[in-house]
Amino acid sequence: SVPLPIAPVKTPKKQFTNPSTGRLVNYYEIEIKPVEIQIYPPPMKKARFVGYDGSIPGPTFIQNKGEEAIVRFINHGDRNSSIHLHGSYTRAPFDGYADDVTGVDGYKDYYYPNGQNGRTLWYHDHAVDHTAENAYYGQAGMYILRDDFERNLGLPDGKYDVPLILTGKYYNKDGTLWDPEANGETTSVYGDVIQVNGAPWPYFDVEPRKYRFRLLNSGISRTYKLYLEEDTKVGTKIGFTVIGSDCGLLEKSVPTSDLYMSVAERWEVIIDFSNYAGKKLTLRNTKGVGADSDFDGTDRVMQFRVGQKNSVTSTAGNGAIPAALRSVPYPPNKAGIDHQMVFQHDGGMWNINGHVWSDGVDARVLAKPKRGSIEVWELINKSGGWTHPIHIHLIDFQVIQRTGGDRGVMPYEAVALKDVVWVGPNERVLVIARYSPWDGVYMFHCHNLIHEDHEMLAMFNVTFLED
Ligand code: C2O
Ligand code: CU
Repeated sequence: SVPLPIAPVKTPKKQFTNPSTGRLVNYYEIEIKPVEIQIYPPPMKKARFVGYDGSIPGPTFIQNKGEEAIVRFINHGDRNSSIHLHGSYTRAPFDGYADDVTGVDGYKDYYYPNGQNGRTLWYHDHAVDHTAENAYYGQAGMYILRDDFERNLGLPDGKYDVPLILTGKYYNKDGTLWDPEANGETTSVYGDVIQVNGAPWPYFDVEPRKYRFRLLNSGISRTYKLYLEEDTKVGTKIGFTVIGSDCGLLEKSVPTSDLYMSVAERWEVIIDFSNYAGKKLTLRNTKGVGADSDFDGTDRVMQFRVGQKNSVTSTAGNGAIPAALRSVPYPPNKAGIDHQMVFQHDGGMWNINGHVWSDGVDARVLAKPKRGSIEVWELINKSGGWTHPIHIHLIDFQVIQRTGGDRGVMPYEAVALKDVVWVGPNERVLVIARYSPWDGVYMFHCHNLIHEDHEMLAMFNVTFLED
């Protein structure tokens, strides 16, 4: 097995002051380009990916709240691109709108305000009809927004704050990457090889102390129910603590032994290895969850090899995990349902309320919230056994109810804000949000990217006008 790779941290090309906001702007350039990686040992062939700066996953951005960013994405890949910073309240022209594509050898500058609270975001491709292909070939990376409040909580920091980006891939017999588009895939790409930070089933050498892991599922279709166990004590789950979601810290830390994670979700967890010096622990996945296709290797994710001693004696970042983490700005309660969104499968296409993206701009605007208004949306899965991870751009929402399946709102979802929610087979999920801060046309969609490309992608128009 191979060590866990950690993507490089992106450094700005230049810095200047935004004359209209007075804030520091970090300017970056990212080149989308091909890279060949030896996934299987020779004589198997290298696999060809196309990634941000040729890195799989892309370089990690670490940003401070209140400093702005401009990123020039230069497309030297194989096809059109559009870049979405998932989790950011970006203005519409920079939000990765599916039809706003940049062709091969073109570039586009994206402006990110970084005004939200600290959170784990990610950037990925969003080009119409080819998002799954582009993301699968590697166009996805992490974008971490820090704020002082979160920095001062005493959580594990620096090299003890580690991104874990999960994907599932299929490889051909010769070691090259299996191609979903060339194979005409229209339902799902689960993958039989689980990769973390680009490496299959890696191991990570840790010290016997606490770590903060930022989990991101950047895969195409696979969902996870994760748990941790010692390699010599199979069947005994080791608890860990959930501290953050898609939209930053939870209201309070939530101990758990299982963690459900659908596509595009981020969960931040603290794992305490202090009682496991010299032991090996494996992060595992429960088979048969989310109607995914499972294979021999899909019940495990990665291994932690715990060393005998700590490299630092200071207890900074290794203290007790605070029970109360932050005051979460939940939207105010509101009765009733403003919109029902029904997710269905029909004739090889995936639709929302009967509409698909190619129905055109008028047909695919399914909601028109007034800017600043609170709305409750009911997300209804009426497509049999399929799972739909539903993502709404621009806003942070609260999951207030889940019915129709075998679970309700999970304890860690109940104290969180989210931007994507797992809507399982036959489930109905209620989400409440304030539609702000900007007006403009934004997307919402299924984040099973094959479903998205087969048009389970629609829009809402945040407006300041009366109807
Ligand atoms: Cu993570 Cu519309 O996307
Ligand atoms: Cu879906």
